[in-house]
Amino acid sequence: MSEPLARTRETAAERDPRRLRDAAAELAREAGAIVRSGYGQIHAPERKGRIDLVTDFDRRSEKLLLQRIAERFPGDAVLAEESGTHSARGAKSGVRWVIDPLDGTTNFAHNYPFFAVSVGVEVDGELVAGAVFDPVREEMFAAARGAGATLGGAPIAVSPIERLEDALLVTGFPYDVREHPERVMPAFEAFLTRAQGVRRDGSAALNMCYVAAGRFDGFWEPTLSAWDTSAGTVIVREAGGRVTDYAGGGFRPGETSILATNGRVHDAMKRVLADSLGRSRR
Ligand code: IPD
Ligand code: CA
Ligand code: CA
Repeated sequence: MSEPLARTRETAAERDPRRLRDAAAELAREAGAIVRSGYGQIHAPERKGRIDLVTDFDRRSEKLLLQRIAERFPGDAVLAEESGTHSARGAKSGVRWVIDPLDGTTNFAHNYPFFAVSVGVEVDGELVAGAVFDPVREEMFAAARGAGATLGGAPIAVSPIERLEDALLVTGFPYDVREHPERVMPAFEAFLTRAQGVRRDGSAALNMCYVAAGRFDGFWEPTLSAWDTSAGTVIVREAGGRVTDYAGGGFRPGETSILATNGRVHDAMKRVLADSLGRSRR
């Protein structure tokens, strides 16, 4: 085989969504073990904002993830919650890892057992693979574009629920909720009185995976970052669900709101959101 052809094949393999998914899962599992080792301890978190915490374990998990990516994929770029952007060290591959080393830090700091490590992968700016690992339940959610979504290796799919009235929904609140409760309360109240139930349990990455697995039927939150949602977005889409902004337009992390559902309750949720947003502006 000629040298350039061999190199092209190698590059294609490096960018293969299934290989990237498997690597994301390995990374999330290894970082998850670090996070799990801190569960149950008394933490002294630092504050990034008034109610936005960071613990030693966020940092230790991120350090491990960055180290592994640098060793195994020197041509790849990284966006990581605690340290920001890292350019490729070697020849650029077009792959970017988007990582949340600990999603659900407030839960973790209080020893409420609902948190995860989230690793999403983009190729040339397109989300193609991701893995979210819950180290307490040892649940690994993963997906690769075109290859479906899995939980512990077995295929998962969104729920068949059609009506909002029968739906179990989940949401999250941004860290400026104290300053701007009016941005979230109208929608929260509207869904409380229309859905079968509404939960708020503190990990956007796991909330999205639960939509993918049919445990929740819909999830909404006004402002999330790429590291909260990149893996979850691929996992929901590959499980047959829909991810958009509140109005049904393209979801852009950090810029738009997010609405992730089983697809069937999407339009009904969009209407409630439009109505409640209209009310909050009136
Ligand atoms: C937070 C969680 C939470 C969501 C917040 C996120 P963190 O991430 O995903 O569920 O409501 O908006 O910032 O800070 O625990 O990584
Ligand atoms: Ca997060
Ligand atoms: Ca985090």
